[in-house]
Amino acid sequence: MSKQIGFNLFEMNTVGHISHGLWVHPANTRHRFNDLDFWIEEAKLLEAGLFDAVFLADVIGAYDGYRGGPETALREAVQIPSNDPLLVIPAMAAATKHLAFAATFSTTYEPPFAFARRASTLDHLTKGRFGWNIVTSYLPNAARNFGLADEVGHDDRYAIADEYLDVLYKLWEGSWDDDAVVQDREHRVYTDPSKVRAIDHAGPFYTVAGPHLTEPSIQRTPVLFQAGSSDRGREFAGKHAEGVFVGGRDLQVYRENVADIRRRAKAWGRQGSDIKTYASAVIVLGKDEDDAARKADEFRRLSSAEGYLAHAGGGGIDLAAYPREAKVMDILRAENKAGRDNAQSGRRHYDDDTTVGQALDAVTAFDRGPFFAQGNAVQVADAIEGWVRDTDLDGFNLRQFLTPGTAEDFVEYLVPELQRRGLYRTEYAESTFRERLYGAGNTRLFDRHPGARYRGGAHLDEPVE
Ligand SMILES: Cc1cc2nc3c(=O)[nH]c(=O)nc-3n(C[C@H](O)[C@H](O)[C@H](O)COP(=O)(O)O)c2cc1C
Repeated sequence: MSKQIGFNLFEMNTVGHISHGLWVHPANTRHRFNDLDFWIEEAKLLEAGLFDAVFLADVIGAYDGYRGGPETALREAVQIPSNDPLLVIPAMAAATKHLAFAATFSTTYEPPFAFARRASTLDHLTKGRFGWNIVTSYLPNAARNFGLADEVGHDDRYAIADEYLDVLYKLWEGSWDDDAVVQDREHRVYTDPSKVRAIDHAGPFYTVAGPHLTEPSIQRTPVLFQAGSSDRGREFAGKHAEGVFVGGRDLQVYRENVADIRRRAKAWGRQGSDIKTYASAVIVLGKDEDDAARKADEFRRLSSAEGYLAHAGGGGIDLAAYPREAKVMDILRAENKAGRDNAQSGRRHYDDDTTVGQALDAVTAFDRGPFFAQGNAVQVADAIEGWVRDTDLDGFNLRQFLTPGTAEDFVEYLVPELQRRGLYRTEYAESTFRERLYGAGNTRLFDRHPGARYRGGAHLDEPVE
């Protein structure tokens, strides 16, 4: 197999991201997340292990759907307390040269102009190593934090996101020419004003004059990631995303989802290979099989079922409130009918006859998904090789049980084995994030990407539908 696999560390600027309860493990340092040294040490470790990127998730509300309030999430540290993901990036960038950074930011609640500037600033400060995970946010509490009575409807969030991206492309790609900044001391011209333009965007959701406040950064548009799983979400991914986090209950569904997203990209005039696809890898590694089994047992023993339930109930559907024998799909359909179209996303994860009891048991188990592997380096590398062969995935987000233990084990045990098989880089060959996805020289959006149409100020005067 010739394809090299990229790994991101799946992170969040919080204590408990997705491995709930494990903050109590004596070797876990998650409680240090307020400390800048925590992030600098992590960045150095990941660069030593030749990771693609650190991938920072984010939510902008509390998980208060379980038992009617946020108490369980607070007690169990389920994504609260949590800090802003963007702000730790410059420190990590200063401690590294190659590691890239993908951070989550929501299109639903803050208008695009300020984010356009923050993202450009980060792309400058990281020298072209910044990526953005586009989300529309799913927590009802997030809506209430930003002045709304309840969530914006699912498909409306994507309509807003589409226009949000359009504004960003205009600012990032269309507002400044590459040669606008001349820094001509003799003629006292810093920026040639004839090469900078307003965008004058006026659409249903946003009115933005411009010009962009930041001069063009190395990548201009950061590398765009997305994880939509609904029909509308995949359509959005097909148009905009360069990296997609694919979901599914088994390898067959993953393979179909990868093919579906590539097909949608082609419908937008892009190529299937323009979208790199990733899945979460759940890996427990040891120096030998027994060592890995001992670690997994410990993770099971310390896992918090309540924490997982608080997380799962965050979207407003508290499965634990239903009888164990009830069918999950019946509940989701009823929720959908009642206008809670969030339930759309859940549907893809359940069979028609999955019961609430089965779903609750599964939600607390980290070892049931299609991408779980446990053992020594050879066993885990065998599994990874099989996953990639069977699904056409390009890479993985490594789920953490322990920080820094999970990444340390990966670097110490697995990286040499994957390298021996030719599946993992032996050095960084490129300098920007986009080149990491597409190869050296591909620092900017492909010309066929919809964001590229505004280059040089083209199409800015077209009316927005
Ligand atoms: C690997 C992965 C990471 C995600 N990270 C976030 C996140 O950090 N913040 C967030 O609000 N949603 C996150 N999501 C949720 C997605 O943005 C999306 O809402 C979800 O996959 C459902 O898709 P849909 O919105 O098309 O229904 C993530 C999803 C996946 C699969």
